Amino acid sequence: MIIPKLATIVSLLCLVSTSYAIPQKKEKDFKHVLLISIDGLHQVDVDVFTKANPESTIAKLLKNGVYFKKARTSLPSDSFPGLLAQLTGGSPATTGVWYDDAWDGTYFAPGSKCNGTAGYNTVWDESLDMDPKAVVTTLNETALPLRKFKGKCEKVQPYQFLRVNTIFEVAKKHGLVTAWSDKLPAYSIVRGPSGKGVDDLFVPEINGVNKTDTKAVEGYDTLHINAVLNWINGLKADGSSFSVPAIFGANFQSISVTQKAIGAGYKDAAATPSDALVGAFKFVDDALKKFVDALKKKDLENSTIIILSAKHGQSPIDITKLKKISAKLLSAQVGDDKINQLTTDDVALFWLKDHKDSKEAAEKLRANATTLGITTVYEGSSLKEQFGCEPTKDTRCPDIAIKTNVGVIYTTSATKIAEHGGFNEDDIHVPIIVSNPSISAKVDSSSVDTRSIAPFILSVFGINPHELEAVVKEKTETLPVF
Ligand SMILES: *[C@@H]1O[C@H](CO)[C@@H](O)[C@H](O)[C@H]1NC(C)=O
Ligand SMILES: *[C@@H]1O[C@H](CO)[C@@H](O)[C@H](O)[C@H]1NC(C)=O
Ligand SMILES: *[C@@H]1O[C@H](CO)[C@@H](O)[C@H](O)[C@H]1NC(C)=O
Ligand SMILES: *[C@@H]1O[C@H](CO)[C@@H](O)[C@H](O)[C@H]1NC(C)=O
Ligand SMILES: *[C@@H]1O[C@H](CO)[C@@H](O)[C@H](O)[C@H]1NC(C)=O
Repeated sequence: MIIPKLATIVSLLCLVSTSYAIPQKKEKDFKHVLLISIDGLHQVDVDVFTKANPESTIAKLLKNGVYFKKARTSLPSDSFPGLLAQLTGGSPATTGVWYDDAWDGTYFAPGSKCNGTAGYNTVWDESLDMDPKAVVTTLNETALPLRKFKGKCEKVQPYQFLRVNTIFEVAKKHGLVTAWSDKLPAYSIVRGPSGKGVDDLFVPEINGVNKTDTKAVEGYDTLHINAVLNWINGLKADGSSFSVPAIFGANFQSISVTQKAIGAGYKDAAATPSDALVGAFKFVDDALKKFVDALKKKDLENSTIIILSAKHGQSPIDITKLKKISAKLLSAQVGDDKINQLTTDDVALFWLKDHKDSKEAAEKLRANATTLGITTVYEGSSLKEQFGCEPTKDTRCPDIAIKTNVGVIYTTSATKIAEHGGFNEDDIHVPIIVSNPSISAKVDSSSVDTRSIAPFILSVFGINPHELEAVVKEKTETLPVF
């Protein structure tokens, strides 16, 4: 698997920038875009599932849709960056969001009054909830990180952490109604830096259910399904009165959770799903049928574009490749005392105390690549080339990023059989399907990435995609659908 280098993509795009088309006219009479992220879904899953289930809703969406077969996610993609690529058109170097669990060299711990040495492990997850074990909960404002801003010490809301605007903020400027549902309260990041992008945000806590119990997770997903059905029916997620949003969407967790569970997952390297995983695919497909039926009933089918994609895939599909390595071996190799933050899954990101140590640390990791399951250590110029940032200029930029051998997960968990976030094929190769009754079936095998979803959505409404800051900065192309 060759990961196209960001710098290469950027320079290629620069070459064609004079002919870069800014869609000015509104595409037909589309009034709504429903964006669904089926977390964990690989492109190959779509082929395997629709072959076995030709009457499925996904198969039907493909009959009236453009199927991008060579789409990839952001690098890394777990889970904020994977979603933010779709909602901003930008990669982590531009959004400033590398992982849910990362580092900012200018932030301070909650309660510190911004006193002491700057630098904080930014964690945007259930640990910020008032009650991390409840499905219905809110952010614990005193747990938010702090930053110095205009001479004052202030807490940072999740959405203030994001450096660029989202499609929702642009949509609001044009008077469009927006709604989004996601997996925990810190997903208020999708509101965008203004905090005002989403009219109806529904963020029940996934950790409020037993994540190894498939039925419990399907019950959790059903909350999102009902929210989407409410929106289609012109109601808010809570059932109060609203209007059908122009841009709305949600994600599914059941496939991702099943892929990771022992005894579930895949049967072979060809991505033959286990019975449990077939069940999860069917659950999601049934939900999609509910959406399509509800749109039909409201006479909204023709005016709504449905986009299916995934924040991230899941690796490895081939269970025989699974190899767990303790993250402690990585930190020991570099030296625990030299590390501010080490984030690991089937990927590793290091933020070092002193940027000057990065070259030596990278050499140490390379010297032990076999033991540590490493394919590539990105540092210095290779990091800049691959990810488009420099740690000395941007305190969010990691000093070192590791691409693992296929199947390597830095974990000591006994139950996990797959993970996501990394840079291998199974992590990053996801589908993008754009469907509407007026679209003829087409397979597009050009190399696209999920960032292109953001400018595409705006162009559907005749809005200039250049209103997205990340699209301008990265010259993100729209999806070639029309
Ligand atoms: C800041 O921290 C230092 C020691 O770390 C302490 O002496 C000082 O009183 C603190 N200042 C405030 C305003 O808390
Ligand atoms: C909220 O966060 C603060 C700071 O981390 C913590 O001390 C407090 O216990 C948290 N409150 C709840 C209800 O978890
Ligand atoms: C979660 O679900 C799994 C699978 O059904 C079960 O084995 C486990 O005991 C459950 N855990 C809790 C805390 O209920
Ligand atoms: C490689 O890592 C192993 C496990 O941490 C360690 O025992 C060994 O000394 C390391 N080898 C090198 C060349 O650094
Ligand atoms: C929706 O669009 C399809 C294909 O463009 C067309 O055949 C159908 O008549 C339309 N339905 C309605 C209700 O307008």
